[in-house]
Amino acid sequence: MRLAKTSRLLAARVARAWLTLRYRVLSRRHNRLVLEQIDGVPLVVLPEVFNPVLLRTGVFLARTVVALPLRPGADVLDLGAGSGVGAVFAAHRGARVVAVDINPEAARCTRINALLNHLEDLIEVRQGDLFAPVADKQFDLIVFNPPFYRGRPQRPLDHAWRGEDVFERFTAGLAAQLKPAGQALLILSSDGDGQALLAGLHKAGFQCEVFRQQDLVNEILTAYRLTPARPNQAL
Ligand SMILES: C[S@@+](CC[C@H](N)C(=O)[O-])C[C@H]1O[C@@H](n2cnc3c(N)ncnc32)[C@H](O)[C@@H]1O
Repeated sequence: MRLAKTSRLLAARVARAWLTLRYRVLSRRHNRLVLEQIDGVPLVVLPEVFNPVLLRTGVFLARTVVALPLRPGADVLDLGAGSGVGAVFAAHRGARVVAVDINPEAARCTRINALLNHLEDLIEVRQGDLFAPVADKQFDLIVFNPPFYRGRPQRPLDHAWRGEDVFERFTAGLAAQLKPAGQALLILSSDGDGQALLAGLHKAGFQCEVFRQQDLVNEILTAYRLTPARPNQAL
């Protein structure tokens, strides 16, 4: 019993030291113009844009999109697109994607990555706040890796971390943007205020099913499949 506890503590300490070292080395890529790769897919990341590799949730989002049942031609919304990682991976599977971000640099970055991956015919980029730029559209799938914390963003990159009422407005607007059999994929971390978002979604009648989970030692990432309270089919 005591031995198991000691080895758990030791493993946690080694993991923390490794994460600190990783952060020191990788932070040179933070908020800079860099070229990243996720499973062989190149992505340019502009300054003031969330780095999907450094912060790891973008990689998790990309691999979750690959794992989803998604038919070619499906209409997908990549909400809070950042570098456009979700849009690029969905378009690689033949989906028609609209990518939205409030940060103009993120919108620019997504356009660059659509071109870089020769997916410009499948990815349309609209800059703006949450569902406002797509008020005229409905989707088979909406993917969202939201800002995990509450607060007022001070600069463009800050929108990646915090928002004042993003959770409430996402919950209130989601059902109207989904086609009759549509679903959403929401990425949350054990860090941040994600539980409040989930509680709000439950209250609004959404089913929130765990689709995929990854333990990153210092945090656990979870991809939830959200379905409004009505019968649905596979995408
Ligand atoms: C955690 S980052 C995720 C970026 C990218 N999807 C990824 O997984 O790497 C959250 C993104 O949501 C965007 N965002 C935050 N609030 C938003 C809002 N109200 N409307 C649209 N986008 C928003 C941020 O600018 C940021 O790019």
